[in-house]
Amino acid sequence: MRGTVRVPGDKSIGHRALILAGLAIGTSRITGLSDGADVAATRRALAAMGVRLARDGASWCVRGVGVGGLLPPAGALDMGNSGTSARLLMGLVASHAITATFVGDASLSARPMARVAEPLRAMGADIVAAPGTHLPLTLRGLAPAIALTYRLPVASAQVKTALLLAALNTPGVTRVVEPVATRDHGERMLAAFGADLAISTDADGARHIALRGGGDLHPCDVAVPGDFSSAAFVIVAALIVPGSEVTVTGVGINPRRTGLLTALAAMGADITLANERGVAGEAVADITARHGPLTGRDLPATLAADMIDEYPALFVAAALAKGRTVARGLDELRHKESDRLAAMAAALAASGAAIAIEGDDMIIDGSGGTPFVGGAKIATHGDHRVAMSMAVAGLASRDGVRIDDLACAATSFPGFADLIERLTTGS
Ligand code: S3P
Repeated sequence: MRGTVRVPGDKSIGHRALILAGLAIGTSRITGLSDGADVAATRRALAAMGVRLARDGASWCVRGVGVGGLLPPAGALDMGNSGTSARLLMGLVASHAITATFVGDASLSARPMARVAEPLRAMGADIVAAPGTHLPLTLRGLAPAIALTYRLPVASAQVKTALLLAALNTPGVTRVVEPVATRDHGERMLAAFGADLAISTDADGARHIALRGGGDLHPCDVAVPGDFSSAAFVIVAALIVPGSEVTVTGVGINPRRTGLLTALAAMGADITLANERGVAGEAVADITARHGPLTGRDLPATLAADMIDEYPALFVAAALAKGRTVARGLDELRHKESDRLAAMAAALAASGAAIAIEGDDMIIDGSGGTPFVGGAKIATHGDHRVAMSMAVAGLASRDGVRIDDLACAATSFPGFADLIERLTTGS
C-alpha cells in the first residue's frame, strides 16, 4: 500500500460543532464535516428542532437558535446507528421545555441509555423508554432544569458531553467529575463558542468540569480535523501489508484519542508524525506508517479510554505480531455498535488467528507476521469498525476474507473501500 490520503472529518468533533453552532446566536461555518451517516443523524435532528443548516461548497453554514431556543420536533428523531447523536441530543433536549422521541436502528436500540437517562432525570427530564432504558425513548425536557454535580460511574465522553449540553440552559453551575479522563472535544468546543466553563484536576487525578449555564453562545468557524479513528484502519493496514508506506494528512492527534499510537509504538511500529499544528483548538498532524515487524505487548486497562474505538484495528495488528498481546479492561467494548469483544474474537478466530477472551481482557497470540489464512465469511453485526478492521485483515491474508456487510463503513468512513483500493493499486 502506497500513497498519501485524507480521511473524513472527525465524527466526535463534527457532532459537537453542529450542536453548539445550533445553539449560538448567528451563523457558524463548519468545514471538513464528515459525510458519514452518524453525523448526518445529528444534523437532521437539529434541523427538525429549528436549526437552519445549509451546505455551501465544502462547508456547512449553521444558523443557531440561541441557547434554550430549540423547537419541538414534528416527528421522531431518527438516530440511526449513532450512539453519540442519541446521547448528546438527549442532553441537549433535557433542559428545553420540549418533548422529543428518539428512535434508532436495531444496534442502537440494544445499547444502554440508563447511563445518560439517570443523571438527566436528576436534572428534571421526564424520560419514558423501552424496558431496560433503551430506545425508542421519549424525553420531556424541563426549563429551567436543575443544576447538579455528577461523578461519572463509567468513563464516557458521551455522558459527560450530554450533561454539559444540558447545563448550557440550566441556571447555576453544573459539575461533571470524571475519575478517568475521556476525550475532551466537548470542553474545547464549548470554550470556543464562549461557554462559561472551568476545568480543574483534584488530588486523586479526577477532572472536574464546571459549567455555568444561562449565558449565550457566539458563532464560531470550525475546521474539523481528519478522524484519527478512521485513520487507524489505514495506519494498521500499512503496518501489516509488506512493502507499505502510507501517509494520512491532517489527522486529529488529541492525546485522549491516540492511545493506539502509544500501543503500536510499544509494539515497535514504524510510525512518524510530521507537520504538527493546531487547528481550531485541536492538535493535528500528518501520520506516516510503514510496514515492519511488530511485537506483542501487555496493554494496561489505563490505555482503554484513549483507544476505545481503535481496539478492533489493534487486535488485527496484534494477531500478526510476534508473541502475546494482552489488552486489558475492555468491558466497555461490549456496549459499542456491537459486542466488539465477541465480534472481533469470532471474526479473527475464523480467519485463523489465535485469540481468546478472558474476563474483560483479550488475549492474542500473534503469528509473527505469517498472514491470516482467511477464507471465512465474516459477520460484522452491522458494526462499521468490525467491518473495516476485518477488511484490513483481509489485505494481510492468504485467501482473503469475505465480509457480510461492508456498506456499514459509511457510518463513519464513506469511501473507505475506494480509498483502500486506491492505496493498494497505487492509482
Ligand atoms: C464518543 C465517545 C465514545 C466513543 C464514541 C464517540 C464521543 O463513546 O466510543 O465512538 O464522541 O463522545 P463513550 O462515551 O460511550 O465511551
